[in-house]
Amino acid sequence: MPLTAELMMFILVATATLTIGQHNGSLDNYAQIFEPLLSQLDGTLELHLRSPRDADQDFVQFLLRQQGSAMRVHVGQDVDVYQHSEDTLHHFYIFNHVYQMQQYLRLFINPGGFYILAIEGFTGEEQKNLQQFMETVWRRHGHNRVYYVPLVGQGVLLYNPFLQSVVPAEDEHSFERIYTNLYGYPLRAYIFDSVYSALFGDGDTEQVLRVTGPDAIAAETVAKHLNFTLNYAWPDDEFFGGRLPNGSYTGGVGRAHRRELDVIFAGFFIKDYLTTQIQFTAAVYMDDLCLFVQKAQRIPQSIVPLFAVRVDVWLCFFVVGFACTFVWCCLRGLNLGLGIERLSDQKDDTANDRYISIAWRIFIDTWVVWVRVNVGKFPPYYSERIFLASLCLVSVIFGALLESSLATAYIRPLYYRDPNTLAELDELNLPIYIKHPAFRDDLFYGHDSQVYQRLNKRMKLVGEGEDRLINMVSKIGGFAGVTRAASLELTDRRYIMTHKVHKIPECPKTYHIGYVLPKPSPYIQGINKVLLQLLAGGLLEHWISDMKERAKWNIHQYPEYLAELGASNWKVLTLTDVQLAFYALSIGCILAAFVWCFELIYK
Ligand SMILES: *[C@@H]1O[C@H](CO)[C@@H](O)[C@H](O)[C@H]1NC(C)=O
Ligand SMILES: *[C@@H]1O[C@H](CO)[C@@H](O)[C@H](O)[C@H]1NC(C)=O
Ligand SMILES: *[C@@H]1O[C@H](CO)[C@@H](O)[C@H](O)[C@H]1NC(C)=O
Repeated sequence: MPLTAELMMFILVATATLTIGQHNGSLDNYAQIFEPLLSQLDGTLELHLRSPRDADQDFVQFLLRQQGSAMRVHVGQDVDVYQHSEDTLHHFYIFNHVYQMQQYLRLFINPGGFYILAIEGFTGEEQKNLQQFMETVWRRHGHNRVYYVPLVGQGVLLYNPFLQSVVPAEDEHSFERIYTNLYGYPLRAYIFDSVYSALFGDGDTEQVLRVTGPDAIAAETVAKHLNFTLNYAWPDDEFFGGRLPNGSYTGGVGRAHRRELDVIFAGFFIKDYLTTQIQFTAAVYMDDLCLFVQKAQRIPQSIVPLFAVRVDVWLCFFVVGFACTFVWCCLRGLNLGLGIERLSDQKDDTANDRYISIAWRIFIDTWVVWVRVNVGKFPPYYSERIFLASLCLVSVIFGALLESSLATAYIRPLYYRDPNTLAELDELNLPIYIKHPAFRDDLFYGHDSQVYQRLNKRMKLVGEGEDRLINMVSKIGGFAGVTRAASLELTDRRYIMTHKVHKIPECPKTYHIGYVLPKPSPYIQGINKVLLQLLAGGLLEHWISDMKERAKWNIHQYPEYLAELGASNWKVLTLTDVQLAFYALSIGCILAAFVWCFELIYK
């Protein structure tokens, strides 16, 4: 059979080439519409011919001459010809009458391609029937990408479901043009409480009253430009949803999968939801998935000065002190050994000292300079004096660093160290609680890194409890949570602002986010066009930053957080802030007392 078909096609093409001279007006029209369409075809166009005689039709010949596209020809009697496999996208049929088309209505499902239906005996009286048929296809199969070609030369017709009328197709864009103005057609839209959207409505009657947020504004703008009405459906409990182990789908993904919706205007991560029945619009923004933990404890006021600078600065301070003593000793050794002349104005009192006492003197002098106290007596050699001057300079710099850090430490509260990388989080050995099952195979799954593998094992799915995860983290602690970075800048901003929760800056995943439509959907092109214009104009970004700014002000709704913020704005130093100084003094006094007692007893 395939061989005969091929042979047949060869003959048909040959005849087509012979009859090429018989152009007339309607052929020009066909060329304008179908030539560009067929040359960009993805997939095969299936020609279903009733008999070889059909190939004599001008239009069929015209189709066969299109060399830019792949075609498959079926020739045969009723039963074979009026069947097609569901995975071919584009089909051509030829019918006697509109009435005959109606009998094969079930064929015209929407595989995402188009149909060309040629009608041989089309009379003016059938116009009404044709329109009825077009409307039925739209209602039954949800698409109108059907080009009707009456073979008695009336051009090509399309159905505009929004005006409920038959429109002539003029060029290859005629079909898309229908979708640039939907004339108030109600689209089944969907939105729910997400990061950039919120829904207000009556839970009892399941009526959506109002939607807000950048996503909702984007939806409104798209609707305004394409002139459709947004008919919001009441959301399921499971917002995003996904595939269940038994193969059914829940939430928004489920509704789009089952074609219960036309468009979802809530941002979904662009990733595999294990269904081929949905598609994404152009990516509208990006977001990270981040982990957060309870903020580390505050460092008590009594020991704050010790934490004013990091350990390595303290260490450097001591090491430099000892190293300088050593350098000075070396200089003195050289000066003495080489018998360099002492400066005349110095009294010669160290000349007879033992080396050990010279070294001791130098040690004390070094530390005196190092902590920025005046040295009592200058060394008797030029080289040593120059060395001392440089030491003074370094000590000024060090001292300034210490002092300024100390001042900041008193004004701004200091916290013990928070984990700032995933490796540090891994060392803390905290469990990671997640609320969306999707995170389980999103976040760390299938990664080579040992850290990711260990973190992946620590993830635990927790049920939707009374309290929000972030609230539990802030109050109880002891585990890490996962959330979108944007939500920490919006609704949950107060936790960050008041230092209740710490976001780990190293986020494991970044996603592009888009809206969702069923696949195939005739609306996708129109919606994408408007969305891309919004993006190019920076409008979505503007709405988002607007929302973030609002979230910042909203801290005023939470007096308890506000109080805490206000408290850290101004800092009055009190006695408690200088307690460390007194501790040091007390320790010094006690040590002195010990030494005095010791001397009293033994001398
Ligand atoms: C074009 O040709 C068809 C037959 O092939 C004919 O029925 C029709 O009237 C012609 N149209 C014009 C404008 O010549
Ligand atoms: C939008 O649709 C309404 C019908 O709901 C129609 O009256 C109006 O003219 C349309 N707007 C445009 C710009 O076509
Ligand atoms: C799959 O399970 C859910 C509940 O767990 C149920 O509602 C749904 O009907 C099931 N689907 C199938 C196809 O069994």
